[in-house]
Amino acid sequence: MNLQNNTCLTAEIDRIAEVAGYLWHRGWAERNGGNISVNVTALMSEEERSMPPLCAPVPLPEAMTMLGGQVFYVTGTGCRMRYVSQEPFSHGSLIRIAEDGNSYVIIAEKPVAPTSELPSHLLMHNYLLEKGRKNRVVLHTHPTDLIGLTHCQPFLDSDKLTRTLWSMIPECRIIVPRGIGIVPYEIPGSMALARATVRQLAEHDVVFWEKHGILATGEDLIECFDAIDTLSKSAQIYFSARMAGYEPEGMTAGQLDDLVPAFGLEKFQ
Ligand code: 13P
Ligand code: ZN
Repeated sequence: MNLQNNTCLTAEIDRIAEVAGYLWHRGWAERNGGNISVNVTALMSEEERSMPPLCAPVPLPEAMTMLGGQVFYVTGTGCRMRYVSQEPFSHGSLIRIAEDGNSYVIIAEKPVAPTSELPSHLLMHNYLLEKGRKNRVVLHTHPTDLIGLTHCQPFLDSDKLTRTLWSMIPECRIIVPRGIGIVPYEIPGSMALARATVRQLAEHDVVFWEKHGILATGEDLIECFDAIDTLSKSAQIYFSARMAGYEPEGMTAGQLDDLVPAFGLEKFQ
């Protein structure tokens, strides 16, 4: 089946390629650092979703009961973002979750094995669908400045980290309205990391993995990139001030609170 004829899917894959290029150019994607998953089920016909598998079913570590029959584009394990940006279907694949949620198969276009962080991605998608949230994208990347903050104990506090980054520029409060969740260090790719991440999603759309990287979930991949990019800008302002020898003043609590009604934002805690 020629998926090139599906213009909606092709546009989405083009967007993934575009963002993969940004991740590389921003210096957030050393070697194979980072991974992307996008739920593309609604963009495909039933016939496309039923394409024959390119591999035997691969068991999932636990049943993803909400994901039966859903199709995801997922970047490949060991694949470099700079090459995902050039050839997304040679460095990623479409996977279909079995109806019982216990396994997946690769259905297109090549048998590229999905990211080692698939447990976190799928558990997040499973949770988001269960809660009826429209988020269908998960982006994980390794921004130098944001990871740097997680090496500093006082910033491993969600409230402190959120308020510090929010207070550097008004846009941060507006673009990351639900603040930042923090997951203490866990082994990359593990179910422990996946479970701890999902626990943060009740209150946040962006989660920091201590000494590892950042995750953002949203309705749109560009939106996820923008959230991380804005946090990175705030971190750079913070570090620039510290390097110039002063503690940045930051916006006041009152100034931050005034943004809530002005932009129709959610309150934080
Ligand atoms: P993958 O190459 O398996 O996607 O791993 C990259 C990564 O960032 C792990 O956290
Ligand atoms: Zn990573």
